[in-house]
Parts: sequence; structure tokens; C-alpha cells
Amino acid sequence: MKKDVYILAIETSCDETSMAIIKNGSEVDSLTILTQMDTHANFGGVVPEIASRMHTENITMVLEETLKKSSISMDEIDAIAVTYAPGLLGSLLVGVECAKVLSLVYNKPLIAVNHTMGHIYANNIEHGIKYPSLALIVSGGHTDLLILKSESEMEILGSTIDDSIGEVYDKVARVLGMKYPGGPNIEKSAREGSPSYELPRPMLDNSYNFSYSGLKSYIINLVHNETQRGNEIRKNDLACSFQQVAVEELTRKVELAIKNTGIKNMVLAGGVSANKYLREQMQNLCDKYQVEFHVPNILYCTDNAAMIGCAAYPLYKQKKFADYTLNAKSSENIKQYIDLNTK
Ligand code: KG4
Ligand code: ZN
Repeated sequence: MKKDVYILAIETSCDETSMAIIKNGSEVDSLTILTQMDTHANFGGVVPEIASRMHTENITMVLEETLKKSSISMDEIDAIAVTYAPGLLGSLLVGVECAKVLSLVYNKPLIAVNHTMGHIYANNIEHGIKYPSLALIVSGGHTDLLILKSESEMEILGSTIDDSIGEVYDKVARVLGMKYPGGPNIEKSAREGSPSYELPRPMLDNSYNFSYSGLKSYIINLVHNETQRGNEIRKNDLACSFQQVAVEELTRKVELAIKNTGIKNMVLAGGVSANKYLREQMQNLCDKYQVEFHVPNILYCTDNAAMIGCAAYPLYKQKKFADYTLNAKSSENIKQYIDLNTK
């Protein structure tokens, strides 16, 4: 009988200190997520210096907790996986250094995982990615549409040419006076509103690229101008109008890809995929074209180490191990990752 593979995964790319033990690339044996969200909310966004210090303070405790909750011991772990890019440099370094020490002390192979790949592989928890599949990544740093051809082969169809959708959710929330992180607050507010503001539609072209900076600037200017004139902003209505336009742009590009490629599987990934309105709209679109649609459980949409353990599994099977010169990289988008890994 084939032996089960257990990977201990570490994620510290932004403001979550997280560790997980993942069995065979899809089963969560143990998961700890310690978020710093409340601290950063006081500053209106993540303060990198504070984030790395908090990772340093918390990471050993998170390891202890993850091992305590696990059904196995450190000796039974097959590999140590860690997010090395992209993210806040100081934050990534804490996780990378911790992973290297664990790898050396316990004599386990080290696996370097790209954070965005982690978001995609979160879809292996509970269902399992079917190939070929379309993948839409919507997070604080990314808006990318890809074709996953196999576990090790993918093609990028399009990306944002300016801001990511998560960034725009956060900026719109901020100008409306909502707390960081803005995405969930916009979602809540939008539920109470109606789409009564006329907003510009981004990128009405037939490429697979996205553009959100025009929409963002329009909303910021609108709020400032109306406030200066002493006019009231209907916050819920503006949140609802923004969300409708932003999500419509995503579904329009996915529909184009479904029609052009004929692909019958689709996965959604990244922090913004926690958004119920987006999940519903994408499900409806996929139903219309008989495309099988999956999105991770909300817990695995935002940053967590379980997804890193899932993304590490194919690399483990291919024996793609990192050496001890592994370093953190603040930027490495999906295109750069594909270029680096398909040579
Ligand atoms: O994937 P993630 O946790 O971190 C990155 O890798 O960037 O994504 C964070 C982003 C933030 O912009 C946050 O506002 C957004 O995901 N987000 C949401 C929701 N939950 C998180 N956006 C819209 N609706 C949500 N429910
Ligand atoms: Zn993320």
C-alpha cells in the first residue's frame, strides 16, 4: 500500500501567521491561522514592519499549536513547505527561515511554494481540481485568468493591467469610511443597497485582461466631489453598484474564455473568492454553460497554510526541492512563476 504523505506548511506572506499539516495534498490534518487583522485595522491597512515583528513573536506558538492538534508527530512529516513569494519581504523571511531550520533539524526536504499557486490549490481541499480547468484568481495582489492544463502545466490568458480587484475593494471601502480589510465590509454594505449609481464599465474589450483603476478613481472622485458639495453619499447603494460592476467584469471575461475554449471545469481562488455575490454569479454563469464549478470553503479562500501544503504536494511528487539558499521574494506574479518553472 502507498504510504500517506504529510506536509507541514508555513504561510507568513502578509498578516496571517499560519501553519498546517496536509495529508496527500488535500486533507487538512491540522491548521492554525493567527490573524493580525485587528492590529492593522487601527492603521487602515497592513503595516509591514509591525507584520514581520508579529510573525516573529507568534510563529513558534503557531507551530506548537499545529503539532498539538495534529494526529502525527514531527518525525512522521515528509516535507516542510513554505511560501517564499510574493508578499511582504520581512513577513516572508520569518516563514522561510523557520522552514529552513525545521528542514535542517528534522532532516526533511524543503519545498518552496508560490503564494498564488497556493490559492489555486486550495481547491483540492474537499473536491479536487479537474484538468483542464479555467482558474480565476482574485486576491489583494492578483486578478489573473488561467488555464490549468495539468498539475504542472498552465497557461495565462489575462491579468489586471493595473490594480487588483481586492485592492479596489479595499480602497473603495476606505473612501466610504469602512475598516480594513474592506472586502467583507463592502460585501455586507452592498447587501443593504441597490445598484443605483451609474459607474463606468472597465475594459469593454475582448481581451482577457482586466482593469480596475478607472473604476477606483471614478468612485474616489465621486465621493470627494459629493462630500465637498455637502451632498450625502448613499454608501450601501454605492457599495452595491461598485460590486455589481466589478463582478460583472470578472464574469464577462470568464464567459468569453468558456465560449472560446470550451473548457468544462472552472475554479475560483484568492481572498475575494470569499465574496458570496461573486461565488453566486460565477456559479450561475457556469451552470448556464454546464461547466463544473468549484470554489474553496470560505475558510480556505483567504490566506492560510493549508493551501500552501496542497500546492506543495505536486512539487513533492516531482521531487522539486529547494536548497538552503532559498530566499524570500516580494514579487513574483503567476507569469514569472510559469516562466521560471517551465524552462
Ligand atoms: O488572498 P488574500 O487573503 O491575500 C492576498 O493574497 O492578497 O486576499 C485579500 C483580499 C483583500 O483585498 C480583502 O479585502 C479581500 O481579499 N476579501 C474580500 C472578501 N474577503 C476578503 N473581498 C470581497 N469580499 C469578501 N468577502
Ligand atoms: Zn493571498
